[in-house]
Amino acid sequence: ERKRRRITTGSSALDEILGGGVPCGELTEFAGPFGSGKSQIVFQLCVNVQLPEEEGGLESKAIFIDTEGTVSPGRIKGMAEALGLDPGEALRNVFVTQVRSVEEQMRAAEEAHKLCEREDIGLVVIDSLTAHFRAEYSKLGDVSERQARLMKHVDQLRNLAMDHDVAVVFTNQVHVDIEAATKGKGRRYEPVGGTIVAHQATHRIMLRRAKGEVRIARIIDSPYLPQREAAFRITEEGIRD
Ligand code: GTP
Repeated sequence: ERKRRRITTGSSALDEILGGGVPCGELTEFAGPFGSGKSQIVFQLCVNVQLPEEEGGLESKAIFIDTEGTVSPGRIKGMAEALGLDPGEALRNVFVTQVRSVEEQMRAAEEAHKLCEREDIGLVVIDSLTAHFRAEYSKLGDVSERQARLMKHVDQLRNLAMDHDVAVVFTNQVHVDIEAATKGKGRRYEPVGGTIVAHQATHRIMLRRAKGEVRIARIIDSPYLPQREAAFRITEEGIRD
């Protein structure tokens, strides 16, 4: 792999397993159950991308495609303040788009292309990638159509990452892997969208809760990163070791 620009997550342990942070020009997925910290990580990245390079940032701005209305301006400001950034300015450097359907989500990805031409963007976030796909294609017979549409969307995102050398980071929900459960392998989680998303050269990181503020991240699929684990914390200031 060639040398890529990277954005720090705020945790050196998590950065380490990511090869130094979240890479530009590629896709990174954070998957996990509710409360595992997916949204907190992407909020933190929106702040960290604004930091100077010597502090792990790119001194640039972020686009945030919010599919569930869960973006928290207050939390982003708090994370910025904790790093000594001006909170209002930090929030203005995050271009938030709310999308209410798959259609709007795909259009937002197109708009992101245009915005990357006008503004100095280093990061594009989609929180979450699959919620609308899951809701709109919920019947069993819809699965192949859903997967085709999702594949097209992931293609859009990969082009975005490559054309503009930005980090594209998305969150994803998980469902219980029924097959593993019925084979007595216990409760295992699978990211939504399965291999369609994974086989697009995406770095796939699974998150889980540990004690208190502690969360565990594990690389479960990646074109070049080894499958390692790291512990990090979600504190009042944001993501930390
Ligand atoms: P869903 O969005 O519910 O699917 O979950 P998620 O994985 O995105 O979880 P999220 O990133 O929202 O993380 C939620 C967890 O972050 C909470 O359980 C808290 O532990 C922590 N958290 C969120 N906001 C704050 C905050 O302002 N201060 C502190 N200390 N912790 C917070």
